[in-house]
Amino acid sequence: FGQMPDFAAINAIAARHGLPVIEDAAQSFGATQEGRRSCAASLIGSTSFFPAKPFGCFGDGGALFTNDDALAEKMSMVRNHGCKVRHDHPMIGLNGRFDTLQAAILLAKFPYFEEEVAARHRLGQRYHQLLDGVCATPATLEGNTHVYAQYTIRLKERDALQAWAQREGVPMAIYYPKCVHEQPIYQPYVSPGQTFPVSEKASKEVISLPMHPFLTEEEQTKVASVVRAFVERD
Ligand SMILES: Cc1ncc(COP(=O)(O)O)c(C=O)c1O
Repeated sequence: FGQMPDFAAINAIAARHGLPVIEDAAQSFGATQEGRRSCAASLIGSTSFFPAKPFGCFGDGGALFTNDDALAEKMSMVRNHGCKVRHDHPMIGLNGRFDTLQAAILLAKFPYFEEEVAARHRLGQRYHQLLDGVCATPATLEGNTHVYAQYTIRLKERDALQAWAQREGVPMAIYYPKCVHEQPIYQPYVSPGQTFPVSEKASKEVISLPMHPFLTEEEQTKVASVVRAFVERD
């Protein structure tokens, strides 16, 4: 939730099989790997500007990035009903146009983005300190920076923690309670009896703490003290 996976490894596997790599950078926008920005690590980078994301607008939005000019032109056409020039449609497309008002909001926010990334980093480090020895906190891969789109901890009794925190007035969210392979639409691709134990365990233990660049130290201290009180109850 805020850092890039190992793209050297992913791109190498894809190259061996002649596959294009599309990065889903909805949660990692603003993060880097070996100095390379998220969205610039493979053939296509994609991100979301949904309000809860690191670079959020006030409604729905997103963007695709590529260094391939021909592909960029094709993607622009898909975005706009397959249209190349007005009233000329060489391909089938859809309406994926980014709303002008949302674009204006992002343009106004953009000059502050690096500051917000720095604030997220600072707050992430502070959560690490406050929760040291209390619960499992997010690790950062070597060579990566982390934007903590979510600050997600792991705890066996996370449902009980969520209820406890709610009583204390601290909102905590569960992303995601169901794994991809547990979604009805993917059932035809899951063999009978097939399990994904690592994902399934994580989906039962993860819980995300309040995290945004404007979180105050007092708020953060309160959140951490609620987690600590829960873990140390009895
Ligand atoms: C990793 C990831 N990809 C894609 C999306 C979808 O983004 P959008 O709702 O803007 O399509 C999300 C939303 O939570 C996400 O977390």
